[in-house]
Amino acid sequence: MTLLFLLIAAYLLGSIPFAIVSSRLFGLADPRKYGSGNPGATNVLRSGNKSAALLTLVGDCAKGWLAAWGATRLGFDATDVALAGLAAFLGHVFSVFLRFNGGKGVATALGVLLGINAWVALTALAVWLAIAFTTRYSSAAALGAAFATPIVGYFLSGPPAVVGILTLIAALLIWRHSANIRKLLNGTEGRIGGRKA
Ligand code: G3P
Repeated sequence: MTLLFLLIAAYLLGSIPFAIVSSRLFGLADPRKYGSGNPGATNVLRSGNKSAALLTLVGDCAKGWLAAWGATRLGFDATDVALAGLAAFLGHVFSVFLRFNGGKGVATALGVLLGINAWVALTALAVWLAIAFTTRYSSAAALGAAFATPIVGYFLSGPPAVVGILTLIAALLIWRHSANIRKLLNGTEGRIGGRKA
């Protein structure tokens, strides 16, 4: 398989919006129409349906993991594996199935990290959990994990190109949280488990 074909396949895989899929499966409203409007697990949880939120989380994470893991299994080198992960992440954020207006990429980024280096993924997850449990802000937890990932990646993940790609993913993820950062600063950010408005 050529690299171009791999990246297109990873992008299409990443474009599958599990928040929309699971909401339809569970007969819920479109998550783009309530709460933060983000098609992601945190916002689906605001519907009150934990199963739908869990399915969103697992699905969005699994597609990122599958892109990186599949590239590895197909014999691509570490940089190409990371590029496949980036393509899946971009698919989630700029989903072709959502008119290029997808989610914020947290679960997909975690899946990509899992497929690249489990230790980097576990460290990012630990940072996310620590901040989420202390603040109950999903966005603050994601931002903390995003800042930590390139640093941990630098020490644990090997090739500079891979660390560069992880840094790009983290930067895009932080940019996608611009509205959350504004809400965190003015005290209007919703906490995990809050209900839709
Ligand atoms: O995973 C997305 C999370 O960090 C923020 O989600 O819906 O509160 O904007 P939301």
